[in-house]
Amino acid sequence: MKKRLSAKPLLYPMPTPLIAAAYEGERGLFTAAWIGMVSGTPPTIGIAIRSTRNTLRLIEASGEFTVNVPRVGMEAAVDFCGITSGRDTDKFGAAGLTAEPASIVSAPLVAECPFNIECRVVEIHPMGEYRLVMGEIVETHADEGILTPDGKTIDVGLLDPLVYIPGTQEYRGLGPKLADAYSVGLPLKEKA
Ligand SMILES: Cc1cc2nc3c(=O)[nH]c(=O)nc-3n(C[C@H](O)[C@H](O)[C@H](O)COP(=O)(O)O)c2cc1C
Repeated sequence: MKKRLSAKPLLYPMPTPLIAAAYEGERGLFTAAWIGMVSGTPPTIGIAIRSTRNTLRLIEASGEFTVNVPRVGMEAAVDFCGITSGRDTDKFGAAGLTAEPASIVSAPLVAECPFNIECRVVEIHPMGEYRLVMGEIVETHADEGILTPDGKTIDVGLLDPLVYIPGTQEYRGLGPKLADAYSVGLPLKEKA
């Protein structure tokens, strides 16, 4: 028997990347779990950002941001960036994180995050108390140590990304691989 839990923003698991932006010498950094891919062509990411966030102001002013995927072990820095306003704290320094220049956008990359995405804002939609910020991916960067042997993509086991669990509010890692995507469902597709 299912139990009704009412209308809540629950989805499992959630990513927990650090979003960075910069404008006229000011830089911002915050943790965002409400983020996902919204288009493949062009490759586009959507983030729900509460309208009061300091980093949103910098994203709107510059039209650019980066998404930085933290690995297991970075939970204290990620949590700090999610519970501290950047209005009067430079979160890079306080969290011991290094801002590195990106290739294309003005927003910095977080060097300690092994996977980084550069985005240019294409649209901002009002959504209640939030702004749904859509950014086209213009470049991605991966530490060499997390690549598959052919160097073409990321070995998620080596990336070891941190994930966020809403409701019980936990940070976790990923479990082991269970099956191959686009293939474990094929027997069901053949029978359908
Ligand atoms: C795990 C976690 C996930 C979060 N996800 C979001 C999110 O998706 N959108 C958002 O607006 N705030 C989110 N927050 C809150 C912001 O990260 C937080 O308010 C931060 O201090 C904003 O920083 P800023 O005002 O310097 O930009 C999250 C916080 C935590 C701890």
